[in-house]
Amino acid sequence: MYSGMSETAMKSLLAIYAEEAERYLDKIVPEEENPQSTIYKAMRYSLLAGGKRIRPVLALAMGELLGVPKDAVLPFACALEMIHTYSLIHDDLPAMDNDDLRRGRPTCHVQYGEAMAILAGDALLNKAFEVMSAEGLRLAEQGIIKSENVVRIIAELSKLSGSEGMIGGQVVDLESEGKSVGEEILRHTYACKTGALLKSPVYIAVECARGAAVGDADSIDNAEKALLRYSELIGLAFQIKDDVLDVEGDSALLGKETGSDDKENKTTMVTIFGIEKCKEMLSEMTDEAVRIAGSFGDKGAFLRWLALFLLERNY
Ligand code: IPE
Ligand code: IPE
Ligand code: MG
Ligand code: MG
Ligand code: MG
Repeated sequence: MYSGMSETAMKSLLAIYAEEAERYLDKIVPEEENPQSTIYKAMRYSLLAGGKRIRPVLALAMGELLGVPKDAVLPFACALEMIHTYSLIHDDLPAMDNDDLRRGRPTCHVQYGEAMAILAGDALLNKAFEVMSAEGLRLAEQGIIKSENVVRIIAELSKLSGSEGMIGGQVVDLESEGKSVGEEILRHTYACKTGALLKSPVYIAVECARGAAVGDADSIDNAEKALLRYSELIGLAFQIKDDVLDVEGDSALLGKETGSDDKENKTTMVTIFGIEKCKEMLSEMTDEAVRIAGSFGDKGAFLRWLALFLLERNY
């Protein structure tokens, strides 16, 4: 379906995937009138503030590549975005990166206070697992995917967002502040703090494919390997690009302050290698990701374009 699609068509496909996620997120975290209504306001404040929606976009695109029905992928894709948003709310707290601007708005703790921001993050994390289990069960009851694959997705996402994944990376990131850190430990930090959530879409898509019995087992296994390598590359590149933008980006476009890493005394790939070398590394990683997406033929065209889009992004 992607064959011969123009830049404009790719951009609108990106917008379509992001809007699908946006609509679903708006629906699953409604404002409720009860004594704790502030929590819904704080959750929605950060969740529905824009954001690139790259993680759900990847899940939807990878699901489409494998021929999975979109209704099966969407709840997991949006749960992932909720986990990501919680990680941003906590990342911005005074105890962590102490930032005041996120997604073009004052950060959650600036708007609602620290206590409520911590709770809003916690609530988004819980809501993500509620959505995955409740919607997963409903999909299984309707015979759309098998419950065993729902459990596998939940197991993978718990691990990737926890102490072996995103949280683990945040720990090393915080403990490295003000110290000189080598390339190896920094790669590990990036693979965990950012790479783990960017790998999650692969597990969502392939487990949905297995659970919906679309395609044969061998081709799903092969696709999984290729997509994991693709995600590893764009995950590492995503964080290096984030570091570059923290130095030379435009705060108005990014929707967050620049100079945050310097302020917190972080060692980043930019402080180790300098901007130019980072840009070289980014193009090499992107080239490999583009080649991998290309191995899927026309079906890989969107992922190929997306790797380049992420390389060029200025927000
Ligand atoms: C920012 O993530 C945090 C990192 C992992 C670098 P994004 O750049 O995806 O932030 P949003 O979701 O678009 O706001
Ligand atoms: C973010 O890394 C990783 C997360 C798990 C949130 P950064 O701290 O560099 O992300 P930004 O620059 O604040 O978005
Ligand atoms: Mg941080
Ligand atoms: Mg930060
Ligand atoms: Mg950053």
